[in-house]
Amino acid sequence: MIIIDLSRPAVYVKPDAIANPLRFGLPAMNNNRSILITGASSGIGAHCARALKRDGWRVFATARRPEDLAALEADGIEAFYLDYREPEAIAAVVENVLTRSGGRLDALFNNGAYAQAGAVEDLPVDALREQFEANLFGWHDLTRRLLPVMRAQGHGRIVHCSSVLGLLPIRYRGAYAASKHALEGLMLCMRAELQGSGIHVALIEPGPIRSRIAANGLSWFERNIDVERSFHREAYQAQLARLRGGGTRSRFKLGPDAVYTVLRRALLHPRPRPHYVVTLPAKIGVALKRTLPASMFYKLLARQE
Ligand SMILES: NC(=O)c1ccc[n+]([C@@H]2O[C@H](COP(=O)([O-])OP(=O)(O)OC[C@H]3O[C@@H](n4cnc5c(N)ncnc54)[C@H](OP(=O)(O)O)[C@@H]3O)[C@@H](O)[C@H]2O)c1
Repeated sequence: MIIIDLSRPAVYVKPDAIANPLRFGLPAMNNNRSILITGASSGIGAHCARALKRDGWRVFATARRPEDLAALEADGIEAFYLDYREPEAIAAVVENVLTRSGGRLDALFNNGAYAQAGAVEDLPVDALREQFEANLFGWHDLTRRLLPVMRAQGHGRIVHCSSVLGLLPIRYRGAYAASKHALEGLMLCMRAELQGSGIHVALIEPGPIRSRIAANGLSWFERNIDVERSFHREAYQAQLARLRGGGTRSRFKLGPDAVYTVLRRALLHPRPRPHYVVTLPAKIGVALKRTLPASMFYKLLARQE
């Protein structure tokens, strides 16, 4: 598997090194570590919560529907309600997790989010505001509330599930791309501020991953975008087909286990990278952004949907 770090040359990681973390310089998993992971009802979060549990972590995970909370509990995961748009729910989850853990937490994986599609000119400001509440302000709030615990411990890992759309703009994804670009800026500043503290911040930048993100995004698109009155109404048919068909059709789409592979590295490596880019299309996009003149790169990108 190839992992591209935006600040370093690409590194080839042998598959057997992933299977045997000691050969790769990662400490073996043990059952003393604890993590809070959000958005664990489906997709990346649901997979990573169970994979971490299997690998010996004490896993606190969040979801919103009672049946999703029950499914997590049934798999031995301590589950709590969290909607990032509700500050009181963020405060409650922090209190409940720290009460259970005795005031300690080794890692936070901010992951729960949704994707508001639609052309920038068609986005009601409230739709953009709500996208930022869920994908950015809630993440900031939760991170801030847990940071004092990590500072007191003298160690901690904060991993954010960003997106390649936090690095590259693609048309009709303005709200989502803006929330992820903002996340990159905010959390890279935090990363710099935490240098030497023993607390490490990393961002995962997935390309297409199998999950419910498109199915969940469909209702947001239908709620907020007035297709019939839009200049883009014909182009929106392709967007609707994408959302109804389960997202971007790409033979390079990977399962959520691909994200877990790099999450483990971000959690365990002594010097985690700032960025972990996942999937071939995402790696190609990042490489082209680095190498092509900007006007050529954005012209090429404008053809993508
Ligand atoms: N799949 C991809 O291709 C892809 C690519 C790049 C980045 N990502 C990122 O990966 C992360 C996980 O997404 P996914 O692909 O696994 O999608 P998913 O299957 O739709 O899962 C998203 C999770 O986020 C939760 N969520 C949504 N809004 C929330 C809110 N306001 N507060 C708290 N939780 C909320 C959902 O809960 P409910 O079930 O209750 O709605 C669900 O648990 C996201 O940060 C996404 O941006 C995904």
